[in-house]
Amino acid sequence: MNYMEIDLDRIDSLGTEPSKEPERQYYFMAKCRDWVKEKEAETGRPLTFITQTFGCQMNAKDSEKLAGILEKIGFKETDTEEADFVIYNTCTVRENANTRVYGRLGYLNSLKKKNPNMMIALCGCMMQEDAVVDKIRKSYRFVDIIFGTHNIFKLAELMYNRLTSKGMIIDIWKDTDQIVEDLPSERKYQFKAGVNIMYGCNNFCSYCIVPYVRGRERSRNPEDIINEIKDLVADGVVEIMLLGQNVNSYGKTLSTTMSFADLLKEIEKIEGLKRIRFMTSHPKDLSDSLIEVMKNSKKICNHLHLPVQSGSSKVLKIMNRKYSKEDYLSLVERIKTAMPGISLTTDIIVGFPGETEEDFLETLDVVKKVRYDSAYTFLYSKRTGTPAANMDNQVEEAVAKERFDRLLKVIQEISSELTKTHEGEVQEILVEEVNEQNNSLLTGRLSNNMLVHFNGTPDMIGSLIKVKLTECKGFYFIGERI
Ligand code: 5AD
Ligand code: SF4
Repeated sequence: MNYMEIDLDRIDSLGTEPSKEPERQYYFMAKCRDWVKEKEAETGRPLTFITQTFGCQMNAKDSEKLAGILEKIGFKETDTEEADFVIYNTCTVRENANTRVYGRLGYLNSLKKKNPNMMIALCGCMMQEDAVVDKIRKSYRFVDIIFGTHNIFKLAELMYNRLTSKGMIIDIWKDTDQIVEDLPSERKYQFKAGVNIMYGCNNFCSYCIVPYVRGRERSRNPEDIINEIKDLVADGVVEIMLLGQNVNSYGKTLSTTMSFADLLKEIEKIEGLKRIRFMTSHPKDLSDSLIEVMKNSKKICNHLHLPVQSGSSKVLKIMNRKYSKEDYLSLVERIKTAMPGISLTTDIIVGFPGETEEDFLETLDVVKKVRYDSAYTFLYSKRTGTPAANMDNQVEEAVAKERFDRLLKVIQEISSELTKTHEGEVQEILVEEVNEQNNSLLTGRLSNNMLVHFNGTPDMIGSLIKVKLTECKGFYFIGERI
């Protein structure tokens, strides 16, 4: 589904290449489309593509942009890696994300041996690491294209370069201040969409590789964001997720003085838009004016993801999070006072270098005080190049694992207690999809992000309907239409 209509037929693919973006990319899309048509005639079948996304919602959004470009070029999306164009959009936030990619590359090679037209592209955060690119260049020579996080808009140009040269194409930018607008995007869902409001991160939490692979923070212009959302709404979208590594610092790189709270107020005015979500919020930048805007909004969902990472002020300091346990708890208090019943979720890292049993107990204490609706818990993973990787008091794996299990138990207990409190309520859900396990059930999402399964028909997908939450099943509900 493209909301941006670009007419490649009006582009002279044999003329000289434009230097300005996005026109330059439209030109290469037209050139690649000529090639796809040729191959289709040769093979007597459509050419297919698949984008495999690893990692976060940012990557999921980037994959939609990549899919948009490939569709424009003439490839048809498929759900198998036996495709003519396979892209892995990689993540490197934890080591196991990298391991998974290497594990699957061998399989891709076996597929490529059977299909001489097949192209394999690797992009995303992992590719921003020199050591990864070196390894692929040496040991995975069958890969056709490698690019990073800053130049995904260049996919058509890189593909064309690959078609007209012999070797692997590698194009990694160390950083960028460029934001290329007006490129196609292929949405996964008709009725909901992610919208980037900013890119990169300037926080340098000492464990985190994101600032190194996603570059410096830069915000999109408010007009571009608003126009994109208006176009999406005109195309059937009712729920948007505003995306940024640290949405609370939105606007700091702009010449206008627009804060995240101001941006939300503008977005709220868009007619036809029903629900607004955003992630991720950094506690240090969450302003009282944002709390006020959330409290008064009819569209912002009743949910806030507020990563705490650790409950120990000592650990938080070494993590470079710039808040203490007390700061975090007092922020939560202000949020809960303004919005009683708001659903809070978080991210927690266990086993950060130097974390003692006492530090860990502080984390458990925060979890018990805040009472999160759910939490993503991670074992600390050493990322080369980050300050924490060189700290000498790394926690033993068995110790970290034992703490992790204890933490998970407490989180799950609280989470199921909180979920249970909603049993019997009537609430609105956005119907998202047919249930994978049971076709007679549909799945919808409450404003607080919890899932509800209920009896319904596929034509309800994309609509907001009222359901009674009849039965709590731990972390989700069985509901009934009313
Ligand atoms: N090890 C473990 N978890 C990490 N995260 C980021 N870096 C690391 C790391 N090195 C987690 C944080 C962040 C989430 C997206 O991933 O909790 O909020
Ligand atoms: Fe990583 Fe911290 Fe930036 Fe989040 S705020 S992306 S954890 S450096």
